Amino acid sequence: MNDRSVRLISPSNVVLRYHMAMKDPILTRNAVPSDLDAIIDIDDVGPKEEKPAYWRGIFEHYGTGEKKNRIFLVAEAGGDIVGFIAGEVRAWEFGSAPCGWVFAMAVSPKMRGSGIAKRMFEEICRRLKEAGVTTVRTMVDRNNKVTLSFFRSQGLRTGRYIELEREID
Ligand SMILES: CC(C)(COP(=O)(O)OP(=O)(O)OC[C@H]1O[C@@H](n2cnc3c(N)ncnc32)[C@H](O)[C@@H]1OP(=O)(O)O)[C@@H](O)C(=O)NCCC(=O)NCCS
Repeated sequence: MNDRSVRLISPSNVVLRYHMAMKDPILTRNAVPSDLDAIIDIDDVGPKEEKPAYWRGIFEHYGTGEKKNRIFLVAEAGGDIVGFIAGEVRAWEFGSAPCGWVFAMAVSPKMRGSGIAKRMFEEICRRLKEAGVTTVRTMVDRNNKVTLSFFRSQGLRTGRYIELEREID
């Protein structure tokens, strides 16, 4: 269901677009512990049973909102969590000067195509800039065309580093 014509005419998107036009109800804010169930629900990458422990760990490390260089945000609409994004500033790895990394992002399937990820990405970039960096990076599975299109739409292009990998016997 990644076809753009389909996503643009789904009823929930029509409702969301109407609401957004009327009163702009999307709130992007720091994640809190009570958001975790909704985040796990939206996260459809990898085995679900491993996710509660994973997201609790992510929350402990990134979710307090106390450190400017560790960011974990959710998007909320009408009291529901409809998306999340997480990232941080990392320095001198791979010989790189400090830069921002976005390592997780998703929007609830029925709410996609309404600018929620764009808002979350703009907010995390704003915060990364506030934390002192001027470059943002991410990695995307080459088969994940939708996420690639999203990041390209936000101006990201192939960078100077190349990911290398092999199986360890
Ligand atoms: C990628 C994802 C976060 C985008 O969320 P979204 O809220 O639907 O995206 P937005 O509405 O903010 O889209 C912004 C721009 O991204 C691009 N885009 C988004 N969805 C697209 C699609 N299905 N096809 C092509 N381009 C797309 C468009 O350029 C769009 O701008 P436009 O609507 O003005 O044309 C969402 O599809 C998702 O959650 N995917 C699964 C999660 C995932 O695989 N995460 C990767 C692991 S980190």
